[in-house]
Parts: sequence; structure tokens; C-alpha cells
Amino acid sequence: PSDMPSEAGWDRSLALLREGYTFLPRRFRQYRSRVFESRIMLERSLCLQGAEAVRFFYQPDAFTRKAAIPPTTLKLLQGRGSVQTLDGAAHRHRKAMFMSLMTPASRARLIEVFSEEWLRRLNRWQAEESVQLLTEAEDILCRAACRWAGVVLPEEEAQSFGRDLAALIEGAGSIGPRNWRGLMSRWRADRRLRAVITDIRRSGREADTPAKVIALHRDLSGKLLDVATAANELNNILRPIVAIARFIAFGALALHDHPAWRERLAKGDDAELEAFTHEVRRYYPFFPAIAGRANTPTAFTGCPIPMGRRVIVDIYGSHRDIGAWQQPERFLPERFLNADIPDAFLPQGGGDHFTGHRCAGEWITIDVVKAAIRHLTTSMRYEVPPQDLTVSLRRMPAKPESGFIMSRVRSVEAMV
Ligand code: HEM
Repeated sequence: PSDMPSEAGWDRSLALLREGYTFLPRRFRQYRSRVFESRIMLERSLCLQGAEAVRFFYQPDAFTRKAAIPPTTLKLLQGRGSVQTLDGAAHRHRKAMFMSLMTPASRARLIEVFSEEWLRRLNRWQAEESVQLLTEAEDILCRAACRWAGVVLPEEEAQSFGRDLAALIEGAGSIGPRNWRGLMSRWRADRRLRAVITDIRRSGREADTPAKVIALHRDLSGKLLDVATAANELNNILRPIVAIARFIAFGALALHDHPAWRERLAKGDDAELEAFTHEVRRYYPFFPAIAGRANTPTAFTGCPIPMGRRVIVDIYGSHRDIGAWQQPERFLPERFLNADIPDAFLPQGGGDHFTGHRCAGEWITIDVVKAAIRHLTTSMRYEVPPQDLTVSLRRMPAKPESGFIMSRVRSVEAMV
């Protein structure tokens, strides 16, 4: 309607970078509306929040992700020709390839190697005075992801490759030096992964690893993906597995802030672990928003949306929406116990995994965070020394400022 709040006269990109995760929620509150128009990255954009917005945005084929996010983020998180940039039948075909890597057996294999790497690292932590969980988890996850995917790295490269993948995530939400470091890392990681693809295609050896599934995938016309695109898609499973380290650091922070839950989870009840993991994904800021462009002219609650208009759905604000959640400002895993998952929950997108753009790795993410919480509560003891654990909402992507330092780490096995 004509009374839709609009601030589209001035470009708000700098305000967005300055205000971070609070940019959208602050305006929804100020305008007392779940929809407003703004000008972001030099373009009119319709911003939406809440369960109805999620259902609207995730109607099949309603919004393309093509050219919907800023180029500084796109270069680090998507890459040319990747599944995110596809629509319709081509998207469904490529997405089916990703989802074929997410079977229960394949996920169990990832958790197996993840736990092996975690326990191996735990041995080393015992010899250290203190360790930073965020970077340690990134390194563990990179090694686990490569082993699972069938990407063989010489030991001397494993660590720097992990750092490169982490730099892509670090750089995605900013402009300037952090973003430039990400671009260098993207270049190095792409070069390495192109070599992996070429090597698999040439030799044809190895078991059916995810890397091989991607290298030998054929598009709808029966053609292999070009090497750069295949390398992009391989990066599309390795990089986000490393990103799970952030949820692990937030999970450790939640255990620290809610000791009653630490005790409860030590009993190992699967439903409680899962509820806790969901609450970590709801409560802490990670992906701030999802952007798309209307594939056809449409309308949201009476506001017309012309074809091609950019629409932005607020993730962080939807997770804190008092219309959708009781006491959203509190960390309460109970809300996910024996309850349906609300539509306003979209830490990794909404809608359907197979037909829409919802995150292909959501189940893996849940599995890995659960396994990490299990290790933190049952395989080891540690102290949390004084440090800066604040989570700044201005920094995208967010993290506990110190990266979560643990000291006097002991494995439970070593104590008995
Ligand atoms: C897409 C978040 C982990 C693979 C997405 C989207 C979000 C997201 C918000 C976009 C949804 C949309 O456009 O509607 C996250 C977060 C993660 C995570 C917060 C936590 C670390 C993973 C993992 C994998 C993965 C572990 C793979 C192993 C993908 C792929 C897409 C995607 C391939 C594109 C899907 C498509 O366009 O159809 N993710 N993700 N993600 N994610 Fe994740």
C-alpha cells in the first residue's frame, strides 16, 4: 500500500555496514511494520521480516538468487555458475547432486572423521596452556571435510588451506582489508580445487567420494561441469563445513552461560542435544539475511513487487520476533523440545531443501554441532579463563570476541 514505510531516497549501505545485524530489526521496530523499502547498494530493496515473509519468499521459484547479493560477498560465498545462481530445472538437477551427499550413511561418515580429528586434537590441547576453540574447530573441520570429501592434502598444506577457507567466511560481511584477504584466499583455494577436479577426471580412481560425485556430475544436457564450476561446487561443501566452527564456538559460549544445560546434556539425550543445537542456531547471529530478486511481478501484504526487485528477508530479526517466539531474547532450548519448528526459524534458509535454495548442508550442520557439544560435555574438561566473550552485533559475521579460549583442557579418558 502507499503507506508502506520507505527510506529509499538515500542509500543506506554505510548504515548497514555500521549497524550490522541490528540494521533491519531496528527499522522494523521503528516503522512498526514487517515490510519497508530502503535503498541498499544503490538499489531499491524491499525488506521483510517474520513467518509470513518466510512463507512468501520461499514459494517455489518465486525469487532468484542471481545477482541479489553485493559482489564483495558473492565472490567469496558463491562463485560463477554455482548452484546458488541457478533456477528452475537446472537448479533442481544440480541441487539433487548436493542432496545425494547428505544421506544418513554419508553424514555418519563425516561425523566419524570429525570425531577422530577432534579426539586427536584433544590430545594436543592437553599439552597447551590454553587454546582458542574457534580457530581450532576450523582446523579440525577443514581436515574432516577434506577427508570426507576425498580431497587429499599434504600435511603442510592442510593448515593453510583451512585458514583460506575460514578467510572466505570472515571476509564475506565486510568491505576493505578483511574482504581483500578473502579474495586472495578464494584465488588460492580455487586453484587448489581445480587441480583436485582435474586429477579425479584424469585418473578415474578412488571410491565414490563427494569430490568424485562433483567432478563427474553431468548437467541436464549430459555435459561435465567446466573445471572452474566444479571447483566452485567443491568449495561450496568444504567452506561451509569450516563455517560450522562458529556455531561450535557459540555452543561453547551457551554451555558456559547456562551451566544447568551443560549438566543436562552430559547425560547424552539426543532430543535435548538437538533442541540445544537449534537454539544455538536461533539465538546467535550468523547469516544476517537472505536476498533474492522477484522472478515475476508479485505482491506482499498488498505491497506491489515489480519483477527483478530485490527482496531481503531478515534472519536475525525474525529469530527475535515477539510475534513468532516467546521470550525471544532468552536462550531457552526447551522451546524446541516436543514442539513444531516455527516458520520464523531460518538460520539456513526456509522452504524445501530439494526444490528451493534452502541450505544443502543444514543436516550436516546439525549433526556436527551436536557431536561437538557431546565432546565438550562428555569427552573433556576445561576451564574458561577471563576473556572478552562479548558478541558484537556490528561485526558480520559475528563471533565471541576472544574466539572462546579454553585452558587446562583434559580428556576425560586421561582422568580415569
Ligand atoms: C545455502 C546458511 C552450512 C551448503 C545456504 C543459505 C544459507 C545458508 C542462509 C542460503 C539459503 C537461500 O538462499 O535461501 C548456512 C549456515 C551454515 C551452513 C549458517 C552453518 C555453518 C552449510 C554446509 C554446507 C552448505 C555445512 C555443505 C556441506 C550450502 C549450499 C547452499 C547453501 C550448497 C546453496 C543451496 C541452493 O542454492 O540451492 N546456506 N549454511 N551450507 N548452503 Fe549453507
